[in-house]
Parts: sequence; C-alpha cells; structure tokens
Amino acid sequence: MVEKAFREVRLVLPMEPNREVEASETASALAASVEMHPDRVDELRMAVLEACINAFEHSQADDGKVYVTLALVGRRQPERIRITVQDHGIGFSEEKVGGTIPRQAKAPRKRGWGLTIIHRLMDDVKIESNEAGTMVVMSKQIDDADVGENGL
Ligand SMILES: Nc1ncnc2c1ncn2[C@@H]1O[C@H](COP(=O)(O)OP(=O)(O)O)[C@@H](O)[C@H]1O
Ligand SMILES: [Mg+2]
Repeated sequence: MVEKAFREVRLVLPMEPNREVEASETASALAASVEMHPDRVDELRMAVLEACINAFEHSQADDGKVYVTLALVGRRQPERIRITVQDHGIGFSEEKVGGTIPRQAKAPRKRGWGLTIIHRLMDDVKIESNEAGTMVVMSKQIDDADVGENGL
C-alpha cells in the first residue's frame, strides 16, 4: 500500500535569529497530535533546530529563506513524522554529509556535532546537497516500539 501524508504543514522561514523555533514548535504540535512520547518529541525538536540552524548559518542562500515541510506519513494511519528542511544555498561536500568527519581531540570550539546529532536523534536521515542547495529529509517513528535497534 502506498504511503500518504495525513497532515502536512509547510513553513517558509526567513533566515533571522530564533525563527528556527517556529519549525520546532510546529514539529512538537504535530507530534503531540499523534501522541508521540514527550522524550521522542524533544529529540525531534532538537534535530529540527539543528537542521534549520545549519541552513541559516551555512547555506548563504540568496533568497534568505529556509523551506520546511512537516508531515505525518504512513499507510493506513500516521506511522512517522517526516520533516524536510531545504535551502537554495551553496551546499556542502559528501564527506560531511554522514557526520563522519574525524574530530580534532582538542577542538577549540564545540562545533561540528549538528549533523551527528541529527543522525542519532532521527530514525532515518537523507541529505542531498550540491551547489544548488541542500535538502535534509528526516523521519522519526511515532511509536518507538516500531523502531529497531538501528532505526528503520
Ligand atoms: N544547509 C547547509 N548548507 C551548507 N553547508 C552546510 C549545511 N548544513 C551543514 N553544512 C556544512 O556541514 C558542516 C557540519 O555541520 P554541523 O555538523 O551542524 O556542524 P556546525 O554547524 O557546528 O559546523 C557545517 O560546518 C557546514 O560546512
Ligand atoms: Mg550545525
């Protein structure tokens, strides 16, 4: 059976301080409407914040906007929440995509964890990035009983 979106919310966020909160608040509201466990909602919020802040901080998008789509998707009923964070900026290279860059032991700043955090907090993450922009598609099961040891 084909998967469908039961609810979908689209946001266009200007790249201004704190606007990422609108995306995380919307994610919370959607997740709460299907009774996702509060701990998992917190994980979802954090991943959404990191993805939006990355677009704000790194994309250098000429249009100054981040496009966020949040949806409850599944076959017969909502099974997971899927969030897409897209920008039309400069993109970044493959080796960074998986959050696999070796960290310097004594890195001067606590930076460089956003992508790793996103991968850990979400059940499935796909990132497409090139010189036309970046699209992060991430999803999290509504019911954690459906999540295997390594996510989906
Ligand atoms: N939307 C984006 N557009 C361009 N580059 C990005 C984007 N998201 C991530 N990056 C690149 O990936 C790197 C790693 O991101 P992240 O793990 O969140 O660490 P940090 O944001 O602390 O640098 C960033 O420094 C940036 O070079
Ligand atoms: Mg970051």
